[in-house]
Amino acid sequence: MIKIFDNNYIRIDTKNNTLAFYIGGELPEIIYFGSKLKKKIDLTQLLGNTTITGVDMRDYILSQYGKEDFKEPSIKIKNSNKTFVSNFKYIDFKINKKLINNTSLPLSRNKKENICFILKDDINNITLEIYYSFFDNSDIISINSHLVNDGNKSIFINKIPSLQLELKTDQFNIYTFDGGWAQERMRHESIIKGGLFTNESRNGSSSNDHNPFVLLKNKFGYYGFNLMYSSNHKTSIEIDAFSHARIISGINDFMFEYKIKPHKDFLSPEAFMIFEKNQDTLSLEFHNFIQNHIVNPKYKHLLRPILMNNWEGTNFDFNEQKIIDIASVAKEVGAELFVLDDGWFGHRDNDNSSLGDWIDYKKKTGGIDILADKIKDLGLLFGIWIEPEMISEDSNLYQIHPEYTMKIPNRTPYLHRNQMMLDLTNKEVKNYVLNCLRNILNTTKANYIKWDYNRNFSDVYSPKYSANEYFHRYILNLYEIMDTITKEYKNVLFEGCAAGGSRFDLAILYYMPQIWASDNTDPYDRIKIQTGTSYAYHQVNMGAHVSASPNWFTKRNFSLQTRFNVACGGNLGYELDPTKFTKKEKEIVKKQIEFYKQNRELFQYGEMIYFKDVYKNDIGGFIVLNKKHQEGFIVLTSPSLINNISIKIPLLSSKKKYHLSGVDIKYDEIIHGNKIDLYNLFNNIEDKANYDLYSVMIKLNIA
Ligand code: GLA
Repeated sequence: MIKIFDNNYIRIDTKNNTLAFYIGGELPEIIYFGSKLKKKIDLTQLLGNTTITGVDMRDYILSQYGKEDFKEPSIKIKNSNKTFVSNFKYIDFKINKKLINNTSLPLSRNKKENICFILKDDINNITLEIYYSFFDNSDIISINSHLVNDGNKSIFINKIPSLQLELKTDQFNIYTFDGGWAQERMRHESIIKGGLFTNESRNGSSSNDHNPFVLLKNKFGYYGFNLMYSSNHKTSIEIDAFSHARIISGINDFMFEYKIKPHKDFLSPEAFMIFEKNQDTLSLEFHNFIQNHIVNPKYKHLLRPILMNNWEGTNFDFNEQKIIDIASVAKEVGAELFVLDDGWFGHRDNDNSSLGDWIDYKKKTGGIDILADKIKDLGLLFGIWIEPEMISEDSNLYQIHPEYTMKIPNRTPYLHRNQMMLDLTNKEVKNYVLNCLRNILNTTKANYIKWDYNRNFSDVYSPKYSANEYFHRYILNLYEIMDTITKEYKNVLFEGCAAGGSRFDLAILYYMPQIWASDNTDPYDRIKIQTGTSYAYHQVNMGAHVSASPNWFTKRNFSLQTRFNVACGGNLGYELDPTKFTKKEKEIVKKQIEFYKQNRELFQYGEMIYFKDVYKNDIGGFIVLNKKHQEGFIVLTSPSLINNISIKIPLLSSKKKYHLSGVDIKYDEIIHGNKIDLYNLFNNIEDKANYDLYSVMIKLNIA
């Protein structure tokens, strides 16, 4: 409920928290953000010393250049007279003002209410509306801004906030989720006591370099920030000498200068912020939020099929018979969806060619429509891989339409994985991509699409638009394509992928309710990748597959049980050549899938928290519990068998008794409280072959 006090104070209570504003000054000020305040608290007490008038000393919702604030500004406009000074002042606020979206930016669904602050720069004739939106039964707050050029000359936006938050603190522990290919979302902790820290991407995607999610900790608790945007993003955290911490999040100002013609507008992507005293609660709030307000409501609670993907099993080396053989065993062991990965189109036998030519490689597939039918006749759903944003030099498309490529005239384009990107800012290209997708979906009647994206931007150029507008225009057109196609093919399940998980963000999840987390399927690495991902994203959002051992990438060995246990911490699939299973392996996999199906609801939609011990002592894993916390599973992983330590299990109460029983080991124990002794557990593993990671799965019931 949004409540106004004394005309100048606004208080909003979310599930556990309070956000309070003061609007009596030059700009609205956040005077409180944290645990819920007492009902009768006098908000004037929170305002602080009003005689301190320096703009950089107030906790305003916007910061701008032109007075005495020299910290990172949240807005930077190049005015029509080529100056950068702005002077936005508070005009008014509105409750439940309709947010105008003239773009294809995805926005969170089912908001409960909002408050919009209207600011105006009279001299430059620009209006800025900053929206704070709230949701039922959630602590997440959405923030973004809408700018309108009311003047009669064009202006340029160099920076526009999604979010600015000012907090009083002299220190933050900052957790960012960084990495690269095959090592996505590795958690890093930095301490900032003063100075400026940024978390940003510049490669045209939300990136595996730095995920947009940032977590801050101070003496009050945890603050989480995420951005619903798949292109260059930036979050900065700056603490000044007076312990004012400024957090800004939004589109990266790197190579960004966006022209706004007279009477035109610009909407910034939504940022989300949350405060919680407990970091696991913060993660669960984000998990629920994604299911309730980001993903297509159809998938909110839909059980996801167990898939078999041929990529790691065959790479490009397959033919019709090989695929049918794989799919037949997939069916036999209980998988529900077969996914035909890269290599089915053009003349693609390696990664040198054919991207852009989304036409059946008949010699290999025996006819993609026929192959799809044969797979469906086996009783499986059919899924297919595509990388629609790309083009190979060796393709018909490149011969006919070289101008469809993102490249700079008179400059040899940089190739990554032997490929270039399509210029999606070009309408004709956008339609071409849409028609290719339609064609594949119509021909194969596929039930599932794996949408890949295997390189980053380099030769940013459009004959029509400035390179400064390119990244944003590209992503808007990509969203339009995703929106159109997911609406036209409502019954198709889309899975996002980007050379593994390099575009794992809320905007992609808006269209595609699951994303392949990483090309690294080695359970030892995966447990860390999944732990990092789980801070901000739900387990059902992250594709997790059992692959062959030794692992193709790390060459390490793992038991089938360990590979399965780790994959149960995400959206389960298998990615190997199952025709190579021994009789025994086939039986194990059959049992795994049967077991997963029996407990799918719990694994996919239970409350899941990963163990942060993995960052301390390499003991990883997760707990998943039903809503009432009465039953669930615990998976523990450890690089050695003997661990004479006990670990504290999140979500369990220190006061309750739990019955633990081994799923894959002989083990039965009642524990009092939330600590488990690992010595017993790992010593009960029967298969003590020389593995690089051991794991156990335990069933838990309240005793
Ligand atoms: C990317 C994906 C993989 C696979 C290959 C195919 O690397 O992440 O899962 O689809 O492309 O080329």
